Amino acid sequence: SGVWAVIPAAGRGRRFGGELPKQYLQVAGAPLIAHALDAVLSHPAVQGAIVVIAADDPHWPGWTQRAGKPVHACIGGDERADSVLAGLQGLPREVAGDAWVLVHDAARPNLATGDLDRLLATALASGDGAILAAPVRDTLKRAGSDGAIDRTEPREQLWRALTPQLFRRDVLARALESAAAAGVAVTDEAMAIERVGGNVRLVEGREDNIKVTTPADLALVEFLLSRRAD
Ligand code: C5P
Repeated sequence: SGVWAVIPAAGRGRRFGGELPKQYLQVAGAPLIAHALDAVLSHPAVQGAIVVIAADDPHWPGWTQRAGKPVHACIGGDERADSVLAGLQGLPREVAGDAWVLVHDAARPNLATGDLDRLLATALASGDGAILAAPVRDTLKRAGSDGAIDRTEPREQLWRALTPQLFRRDVLARALESAAAAGVAVTDEAMAIERVGGNVRLVEGREDNIKVTTPADLALVEFLLSRRAD
């Protein structure tokens, strides 16, 4: 059975500022969310997607299909984890409980096919799931309360979590429900699975799979995407 995609797009982009939530900003001729959605749907293993939008979202274009595959939509929640859980619950009935589901941010428009291939191959081969991640390159400082450096943290085993993140539908839903019941704020899907003892594999992904958070990020992905289209 195929993989389905959950695209959380219910954020209001407060850190970015501006009227339009960042997932709808135009880059290289299309909104960020179109690039993110098409990047996952264009993979042959991906059967369809559900986009999770905010309750009062006037910007959602109402797509029911892209790249020849079904696109569903549902309403998200206050936190990203609430939105992902809503997406899992809103998947079509035909999607089995043990089906693999990939969660990919609407604000990550520059996902490479090769990364998605390796993520799928790794997750489907073993373990409870896998995520794309990038090794930390900068030296990490822990700040003291006075704003000066307390100490330097070893970075050798540290990774930045990217998306997509790939888990089985029911396993992820139960893990997110458990975190919510315990009042634990999880900032990615893997964190919910780790919390319940799951074994999540790290798959090294490209550094340019950027999550657009600031206007500077937007300029960077505009450059990356327009270069790719050449
Ligand atoms: O805010 P941040 O950049 O971490 O959001 C990552 C993704 O999660 C974005 O695509 C955003 O729209 C989505 N999100 C969501 N529901 C929320 C908050 C964020 O679907 N409540």
